[in-house]
Amino acid sequence: MSDITLSSFPALSSMNALWQARYGTPPAIPALPESPVARSLMAHRSVRAFSSAPLPDGVLEAAVAAAQSASTSSNMQAWSVVAVQDGPRRARIAELAGAQDFIAQAPLFLAWVVDLARLAAVGHAHDRVLPGLDCLDTFLAGVMDTALAAQNAAASLESYGLGIVYVGGVRNNPEAIAAELGLPPRTMAVFGMSVGYPDRRHPTTIKPRLPQQSVLHRERYDAAATTGAEIAAYDERLRAVRASAGQPARSWSEAMLARLGDVSALHGRERLPQALRAMGFRLDQA
Ligand SMILES: Cc1cc2nc3c(=O)[nH]c(=O)nc-3n(C[C@H](O)[C@H](O)[C@H](O)COP(=O)(O)O)c2cc1C
Repeated sequence: MSDITLSSFPALSSMNALWQARYGTPPAIPALPESPVARSLMAHRSVRAFSSAPLPDGVLEAAVAAAQSASTSSNMQAWSVVAVQDGPRRARIAELAGAQDFIAQAPLFLAWVVDLARLAAVGHAHDRVLPGLDCLDTFLAGVMDTALAAQNAAASLESYGLGIVYVGGVRNNPEAIAAELGLPPRTMAVFGMSVGYPDRRHPTTIKPRLPQQSVLHRERYDAAATTGAEIAAYDERLRAVRASAGQPARSWSEAMLARLGDVSALHGRERLPQALRAMGFRLDQA
């Protein structure tokens, strides 16, 4: 990592402008309460083209401190992260994760790992069998812990002006990724994250989301919260934003049908239950 000066907190437009970009409408609340953290979170966009500039010293450690500051189920802290900077290793991971070239390009790749091995070692040190480790809920808690930690790290990295993109492609072939990273039994990389300075020659856009009332239910779940007309309007908005960014103009509905309409779109992840068992997770205790 280089010791170049950290960029200052990125200049972001107003909360209202960010809301408008995210939803395509002015905010439901005319004056959203100001917060630099909320603004940074609302300005997120995945970055898939990176400059070769190295990361400043300390941002990795600050990001992992933010990750470890996230809430964690029963303080189990059932996750680890493997920071990969070695170029040839990143290139091999890029290939294993669906030939996603940006993994080789970005100076840092973080593999976010559900880690039940450390907890198994605690049982071992105390000569105790831990049946709770094999419960599906414990695995789920590990996945939740990992995701919360990773997202805190993402927010920390973005606050320094860095760009990130998550990489679910590491689940295409979890055993090969585990071998590449030297992961022990009862651990698995559930997703990765490429990190680096965005390549300004490839500008990114804020990707619109469904209207807020689709996801925000008040008091009780409202099954009628998302109408067909709202989906159609969102399809059109996403299509238009993608087209103006020079991307294939695909609607959300089209993308979801392609993603979920055939298990081959999971690129090997459909065999996750077998892979998990091969990697030492049982997930079957009563
Ligand atoms: C767990 C997870 C895995 C992802 N995996 C990939 C991936 O393998 N490749 C990729 O290009 N983007 C990946 N993404 C990024 C999503 O496609 C992206 O977040 C989504 O389209 C919304 O766009 P935005 O992040 O720019 O708002 C992943 C995101 C998440 C949360």
